Amino acid sequence: MDKFVIHGGRPLRGRIRVHGSKNAALPMMAASLLLHRGGRLVLRNVPDLADVRTMARLLGELGVDVQRSGSSLALTVVDDRPVRAPYDIVKTMRASICVLGPLIARRGEAQVSFPGGCAIGSRPVDLHLKGLQRLHSRIGVRNGYIMARGRLRGSTVYLGGTFGSTVTGTDNILMAAVLAKGRTVIEHAAQEPEVQELAHLLNLMGARIEGIGNHRLLVHGVDRLHGAQKTVIPDRIEAGTFMAAAAITGGDVTIENVHAEDMTVVLETLNQMGVRLEAGTYTVRVNARGLKRLDPVDVTSLPYPGFPTDLQAQFMAILTLAKGISVVTERIYPDRFTHAAELSRMGAEIRKQESTAIIHGVPRLSGAPVMASDLRAGAGLVVAGLAARGRTEVLRVYHVDRGYDRLEERLSSLGANIRRAKDAAATATAPAAATA
Ligand code: EPZ
Repeated sequence: MDKFVIHGGRPLRGRIRVHGSKNAALPMMAASLLLHRGGRLVLRNVPDLADVRTMARLLGELGVDVQRSGSSLALTVVDDRPVRAPYDIVKTMRASICVLGPLIARRGEAQVSFPGGCAIGSRPVDLHLKGLQRLHSRIGVRNGYIMARGRLRGSTVYLGGTFGSTVTGTDNILMAAVLAKGRTVIEHAAQEPEVQELAHLLNLMGARIEGIGNHRLLVHGVDRLHGAQKTVIPDRIEAGTFMAAAAITGGDVTIENVHAEDMTVVLETLNQMGVRLEAGTYTVRVNARGLKRLDPVDVTSLPYPGFPTDLQAQFMAILTLAKGISVVTERIYPDRFTHAAELSRMGAEIRKQESTAIIHGVPRLSGAPVMASDLRAGAGLVVAGLAARGRTEVLRVYHVDRGYDRLEERLSSLGANIRRAKDAAATATAPAAATA
């Protein structure tokens, strides 16, 4: 098992280009299941990540041949009969649930292993299932598998919950509705840019979706979709992680290939901390040179366009060093705070009360061995390690590799002292990979 070894304290400098979005690419890949045999999707700017490889493996089981050439993936349906998404793949990646909607819609049946719990808390899929039932699919659970059948017909589907809406739930219902007979209205659809991307891809494939980007989506079902090509949007979470790394180190980094308009709340938060920002057409310069300590801010994660939960850990890391008290509230995953205890091991002062963390900024963090418990918690610990005095070891970086392509090389290119090493002690007692 690998770990990162970081010697903190170097300000990051230079330019870095953001890769394609993981959370846009995964459902877009699953959309290939909507095609008939011989149909092909070509996705450009697909990041080379563990989760993307897992989705390719799952699609392989489902009759889709996936070939990578540079940053492009060609997905060709070679057999449109398989319907089973097996436990051994689904258990390693919850985004596997995205195959459910397209499988029922196109193949009339789906058997998808029920995703279990995961490190960031309980993650039910009840809204996915209720939504598919509204589209007249028969759903049951047998031997740990979601069993779904039926010819879909349009309907009104409400996807709201106490937390807002569901991202992959909206993906699933959209992919089901595009081939359902008649008209579907999706109320309280997720508005995340990644969901919008999927909807745009589906329209390129011949679907008829109206209202993209709104809470209400209108879908006119069509009989058949065709192949298409699309470039995946830049990863706003990767971009935000680099921004956090620049800010916490007093760095000056220009981030390239960013859609700043998808990141308004993140930029506003940095701005409130005192970080200087310059947004260009597809670039954002994050300049924290000469800032001794950043200002505290309150951050609440919310559905888009609110602050993304996937950047909460990285921003908590910055706030541990702010000059005052910050309050971080997690509204999407109330238990997504495993990084807080690890940050405390580095000298941070964090008190957790239910879904809120109160952070008293300290003048410095000190390096320590810390454990990544999920992808973004791991990214938060890396960000903290870049600013901590001395040596930090972030263990279990396989979590980080799921969503960041060679993060250590990219941060090194900006001047960070970070390298990957084998964690011999952990390899002997390796746990099964947790899902996220
Ligand atoms: C997506 O997960 C992302 N994954 C997550 O990214 C991200 O953290 C999350 O959206 C929130 O933005 C992908 O896009 C592949 P949700 P998803 O359904 O779709 C509750 C990362 O680090 N809920 O929008 O699984 C749920 O418990 C990851 O890249 C229900 O109650 O999240 C949560 O509180 C991890 N019932 C809230 O909704 C349901 O049926 C939002 O979850 C579905 C969800």
